Amino acid sequence: MNDFETVYLDDKTRKLVILDQTRLPNEITYLFLNDPKEIWEAIYLLKVRGAPAIGVSAAIGLWAILARERYSSKEQFFSRLHQMVEYLDSARPTAVNLSWALETMEQEALGHRDFSVDGILQVLHDKAVRIREDDIAMCKAIGEHALTLVKPGDGLLTHCNAGRLATVKYGTATAVMYLGQERGYHFHVFCDETRPLLQGARLTAFELHQAGIDVTLECDGMSASAMRKGLIQAVFVGADRVAANGDFANKIGTSMLALAAWRYHVPFYCCAPSSSIDFSTASGDGIVIEERKPEEVTDMWYQAPMAPRGIKVFNPAFDVTDHDLVTGIITEKGIARYPYDQSLRRMLG
Ligand code: MRU
Repeated sequence: MNDFETVYLDDKTRKLVILDQTRLPNEITYLFLNDPKEIWEAIYLLKVRGAPAIGVSAAIGLWAILARERYSSKEQFFSRLHQMVEYLDSARPTAVNLSWALETMEQEALGHRDFSVDGILQVLHDKAVRIREDDIAMCKAIGEHALTLVKPGDGLLTHCNAGRLATVKYGTATAVMYLGQERGYHFHVFCDETRPLLQGARLTAFELHQAGIDVTLECDGMSASAMRKGLIQAVFVGADRVAANGDFANKIGTSMLALAAWRYHVPFYCCAPSSSIDFSTASGDGIVIEERKPEEVTDMWYQAPMAPRGIKVFNPAFDVTDHDLVTGIITEKGIARYPYDQSLRRMLG
């Protein structure tokens, strides 16, 4: 498997530790953080990214911020806690895991409001560690369910990075690939480069290749052609937020992939832990899609600008895939099938 950690809590320094993903694949650099602005920026600038990893980082980061400060009263502690929850939550809008993890932490603190401040900090420490461990277990369970849908030697396509780097271990969409490798399935994995930020090329290709999985990198526009040639037997992607009706937001380009998969009769699966499912959002129309800087498209990976100065740029970081294009939504509890408004609720209550 891989020889890096995505995110963890370091008890010695009492800090959040993340692998700086903006430096991959060329450099392994860990950042030790407990300053609110640095943690906010790490999430905003995608030093840590991927819905589950953002949630885990926010939970650990919240604890690290609170644990380094001193409080004159419990009221002051709770007011600072709430302020930091709102601040960190403002870093990115689309992945529901961020607000889920922060709300879970705040509720945990409120549930122990009779404890001393030190006691509440201990409870928050333990909760953050548990959120991290639960993420590992959920991803592994998603992989087990996904393995029942494929056979040895299959060609599997994935988009963006819903891998170990987007979670704590295994990934969501890549869990099937890691577990398959352990069990001798010999999958042929294709990963889209994922414009404009190249998470597929820089991150997914990096982590699967490092783990010794047979992986082929392709430009985003090549996936329909790979499906038409019969190279792909199933598509597995992650999700930043799954609405109650099964529409889901994921990295920009996912919905085009679903359309191509539908055309070529390739099963298309969305892999999402229950922390990514948002029953309070009825459909994809209610999901806020993050828009990012134009320079990510025009300049970022080039030595000279690659578009005329002043050109209008549309740079949504995510898109919504309609639920009727999805063959199944795989959570840690099983595989939900259409109609998702009923199957997801039945599965996750
Ligand atoms: O902008 P990013 O890199 O955070 O986008 C990540 C994705 O879209 C992932 O596919 C999604 O978060 C699922 S991660 C298991």
